[in-house]
Amino acid sequence: MINFNQPHLTGKEAHYMYEAVYTCKLSGNGRFTKACQSWFENRYGFRKALLTTSGTDALEMCAMLCELQPGDEVIVPSYTFVSTALAFLREGAKVVFADSMRRNPNLDAETLEALVTPRTKVIVPVHYAGVACDMEAVMAVAEKHHLLVVEDAAQAIDSYYKPQTTNHKLQTTNHKPQTANHKLQTTNHKLQIPLGSIGHLAAFSFHETKNITAGGEGGLLVVNDERFVRRAEIIWEKGTNRAEFFRGEVNKYGWVDMGSSFLPSEVNAAFLWAQLENIEEIQAKRKTLWDTYWKRLKPIAEKAPFSLPDIPPYATNNAHMFYLVLPSLEERTAFIAYLKENGVGAVFHYLSLHSSPYYKDKHDGRPLPECDRYADCLVRLPLFFDLTVENVNHICDLIETYYR
Ligand SMILES: Cc1ncc(COP(=O)(O)O)c(C=O)c1O
Repeated sequence: MINFNQPHLTGKEAHYMYEAVYTCKLSGNGRFTKACQSWFENRYGFRKALLTTSGTDALEMCAMLCELQPGDEVIVPSYTFVSTALAFLREGAKVVFADSMRRNPNLDAETLEALVTPRTKVIVPVHYAGVACDMEAVMAVAEKHHLLVVEDAAQAIDSYYKPQTTNHKLQTTNHKPQTANHKLQTTNHKLQIPLGSIGHLAAFSFHETKNITAGGEGGLLVVNDERFVRRAEIIWEKGTNRAEFFRGEVNKYGWVDMGSSFLPSEVNAAFLWAQLENIEEIQAKRKTLWDTYWKRLKPIAEKAPFSLPDIPPYATNNAHMFYLVLPSLEERTAFIAYLKENGVGAVFHYLSLHSSPYYKDKHDGRPLPECDRYADCLVRLPLFFDLTVENVNHICDLIETYYR
């Protein structure tokens, strides 16, 4: 059986976790947490990076930082994981669902502005499959209407946005990465801006289904806008100014604001550190597998009734996911069953939020046909580090036989 997903171990995880345990520093914000956070700040130019216990927690921190009032509106795609909306709903906001694009499941930036009302406070673009939303268009709407942008970059580690105009204003912080290996500068003289560094705030996930994991569950809050840095640290540490105390900036810490226990233990951070050390190898292997799918399935897709993932000119591919879009729910059900009979675990993805039991009463009733289409027709094929090129070829052979 080829499973749909299998978490990858680089070999150093247990070693670093052992180190965390035997140096007797297990609670959060220790050596491994700091090392991971600096790594993200240096490599991607994030103003402030704070590890969290999940991507959901990072989104909840974003929602708290936005200081929403009851009735404030937050625009989220309907085709997303529930946490994108839930984080804001918990803060008393009204969620306004956006449709996806025809070409890929990302939020349709062309119809975005029509959703803005005087109550709109935040836009939450989700970079589905690690493929960038049209961030120049999203940021232009946000700037025009004085809105905050929270990037849901749960799937988008090590993926980039390529501005198509020269006068874009995408770097909110002017903060520049410190290391030589960052990719902000250029391939073919084209600027590549890391996803997660464009919005005022961003959230990543290190769940075991993601390209890198913090031992099953984990996440990262990114703060790009200086105004939120101090409060983010306080919310992260249960509403205390403990971070300032540890840095020696105050002589005692107290209960100063809202917050929760969002920081992970050092054991999770140690696991994540082993993965970050190997990110180049992980990404290279995933891209090889993704490219193999693409090369094999492209000629089949030209004759068969399914389409392949779309990477727009403004996006890079971090090989998080390989999906097909079939013509109908019935055909997708039959296709998944066929692969299962042949020992391959393929799965569908999100159910649209706007038609789900909990959210349908909260939706204003607009039809969102593209979200419904992806909910019914999108199927994800296995893609994980330990999959082999032979496995991918075998899956493609099965698909070829199915459509012959
Ligand atoms: C788009 C998106 N947002 C948020 C999340 C939540 O992340 P986590 O599972 O780490 O809480 C996920 C998880 O799969 C996701 O895909």
